[in-house]
Amino acid sequence: MEGEMLKTAAAMKACYQGFDPAAYLQYNYTPPRADFERRDSIVPWKLSCLHRALTEDDIRGDVLVDVGSGPTLYQVMSGCERFNRVILSDFLEVNRRELQSWLQEDKSSLDWTTYFKYVCQLEGRSSSAWTEKAARLRSVVSDVLPIDVHQSCPLSQGSLPSYGADCLVSAFCLESVSPDLPSFTSALSNISSLLKRGGYLLLIGALGESFYMGAPGLCIPVVPLDEAQVCFSLRASGYELLQLCIYHLPADMKVGVDDVTGVFFAKAKKA
Ligand SMILES: C[S@@+](CC[C@H](N)C(=O)[O-])C[C@H]1O[C@@H](n2cnc3c(N)ncnc32)[C@H](O)[C@@H]1O
Repeated sequence: MEGEMLKTAAAMKACYQGFDPAAYLQYNYTPPRADFERRDSIVPWKLSCLHRALTEDDIRGDVLVDVGSGPTLYQVMSGCERFNRVILSDFLEVNRRELQSWLQEDKSSLDWTTYFKYVCQLEGRSSSAWTEKAARLRSVVSDVLPIDVHQSCPLSQGSLPSYGADCLVSAFCLESVSPDLPSFTSALSNISSLLKRGGYLLLIGALGESFYMGAPGLCIPVVPLDEAQVCFSLRASGYELLQLCIYHLPADMKVGVDDVTGVFFAKAKKA
């Protein structure tokens, strides 16, 4: 059974070799999914959840780790104000390079300006403060590390302080790299080893999704989750669930790049 699971997790890793960051960003991080004029657009919803979760309980600390960052930065735009260090991570070198390119202010890197402006507004700042926020994010990202959530130690030894991270963020990673629910739950337990006791997990993921496009013509399989399964996996991995918010995809957000029906946002505390 364990061997079988490893075999299919290995097949998922092989599938990712064709992942194209530019195509992925185009599919998911442009309108209508990232339309800041619409309150029911998916990206503003995610940014609001992250902002609210961190401010409600005044979550802050030393180290924030983003698990499976991909080529995106939106998921740490609120957290970068509240932690001294932010560690980004991804399995693929192409994605890590994309992130490094933004950190080094390469002209060819992706423009996240509208995202920064939106988060500034959520924080009650003028949208013109976005340059300060971008500088803050660049200054607190200490590393962009390789990660494999299917390993019991997903990051290489010594990447984190011995007590672990104060907070983990992970968006659309675990379900899209796991062949089935046991593998998803096991990946969740693996990343929990990175978090200190009493630390917070902010987990965002797809509901009811069986595939997404990782490049033109590349369908990446996803384990289709429902809310009960997310709650089960969190409990099984030693978390107390503090909040679960659900986003239902409006018809015009179904743009043919996946078959997702909803998105969950979970805030949980490691017991
Ligand atoms: C759907 S993307 C999510 C990217 C980003 N977090 C977001 O919110 O859009 C899934 C990410 O998981 C990464 N990945 C693939 N296999 C992985 C593994 N075994 N461990 C950790 N991350 C993996 C991929 O490279 C990809 O960047």
